[in-house]
Amino acid sequence: MTTESQTGSQTDPGAGLELPAGFLLGAATAAYQIEGAAGVDGRGPSIWDTFSRQPGRVLGGDTGDVAIEHYDRYRQDVALMAGLGLQAYRFSISWSRVQPDGRGPLNQAGVDFYSRLVDELLAAGIQPWPTLYHWDLPQPLEDAGGWPERATAERFADYAGAISSALGDRVSQWTTLNEPWCSAFLGYGSGVHAPGRQDPAASVRAGHHLMLGHGLAASLISSAGHQVGVTINLYDVLPASDREIDREAARRIDGLQNRFFLDPVLLGSYPADVVADLAGVTDFAFVREGDLAVISTPLDILGVNYYTRHVVTGDATAGNDGHGGPVGGQASPWPGSEQVGFLPGELPVTAMGWEIHAEGLTSVLKRVAREYPSVPLYVTENGAAFFDEPDADGLVRDTDRVRYLEGHLRACRDAVDAGVPLKGYFCWSLFDNFEWSWGYSRRFGLVYVDYETQTRTPKSSAYWYSDLIRGRLAV
Ligand code: FCB
Repeated sequence: MTTESQTGSQTDPGAGLELPAGFLLGAATAAYQIEGAAGVDGRGPSIWDTFSRQPGRVLGGDTGDVAIEHYDRYRQDVALMAGLGLQAYRFSISWSRVQPDGRGPLNQAGVDFYSRLVDELLAAGIQPWPTLYHWDLPQPLEDAGGWPERATAERFADYAGAISSALGDRVSQWTTLNEPWCSAFLGYGSGVHAPGRQDPAASVRAGHHLMLGHGLAASLISSAGHQVGVTINLYDVLPASDREIDREAARRIDGLQNRFFLDPVLLGSYPADVVADLAGVTDFAFVREGDLAVISTPLDILGVNYYTRHVVTGDATAGNDGHGGPVGGQASPWPGSEQVGFLPGELPVTAMGWEIHAEGLTSVLKRVAREYPSVPLYVTENGAAFFDEPDADGLVRDTDRVRYLEGHLRACRDAVDAGVPLKGYFCWSLFDNFEWSWGYSRRFGLVYVDYETQTRTPKSSAYWYSDLIRGRLAV
């Protein structure tokens, strides 16, 4: 029932966007960003509860205490997804809700919430795609040392095994981690994300233990007969010029951003150049025999999150650190490569200041397909923040987001045409939500949320996406 004025689109939505039969189209969220109900039904505190309460960490002092009340409104939210025709819903499970201490027996009330959510999704014909860790470590585990400690990887595997068997009768598709780069380097390096530590050596150890936790969990989930994957955030990293110093900067950042995660997970080794770049930071003595075999447990899917590109220079005086938060005081998230500068490019940007570069999505997907063993790929996040507001008629005409999504879905199609085994796409995000250290100031949703009344209003982009899903299915 979409009208042209709602979609803001003059063209047939999805025209020329023929995606292969069976290509999955969904949307994504994460627990801390939407659930609220922070102290309800036995949920314990996570590092994001602690961090967001510390003055100066999150813009406006915002927290996820209430968020968009998805914990209480999940039925209405699933009905909205069904109305849009979503084929799959990627959400994350709050570890602190289902295992408040990060160890020991599961909290049944927390498990029941996800069980009800899964039932609701299945009844609506929507595939549940849970992610086990979207950045919200139980606080007791951070108090015991957090991800820089090896024991945290073991705790994660225990939790993953327990919750995947609790829901495994109905959920067959699991993702271990979301964006370990952010957990490690923003959480323990720059301090922009929880737990807000600024310790380069600890951030590298955290990266290894996150991947070890992934590998241990993946092997448990796989041997229980489920499909398993991990989601990594990839960037197209380009040198600002052809000068050697800029090309060297691009090699370093590509190493830390992309290959530090792709290589161990898909090839079973750390890239030698990245290990050398990190020589002044850490000696990698925390890597034990057998770890890389665990980390490279064969996967059924690889999730790729893609938002923008990086344009870098080796000239220390130019640019910024590439991942600054909205509040001051952060360190570099690039251990051993703090000298690299990130330049604002010439392309149009989103409300995050991120350049809009759809071709970069095609190139990262082609690169993974070319340089790594073949594994089915899914874009598990892609989307854009804009300063959306309802107009006088109550409609949110986010034509810039429609354009962004259309461009990036075309980029997916181009990758498929080039032979990339790309099987699906999830838009970030289904709803406006708590955007980490940016609080509620940045809106990524297909659906507008009025945070005062908790009213949900599908934006033009939601109608467009819905038409795309339905139009494609009708072909
Ligand atoms: C990704 C996160 C997601 C959201 C988007 C904008 O890095 O996985 O939670 O914040 O960025």
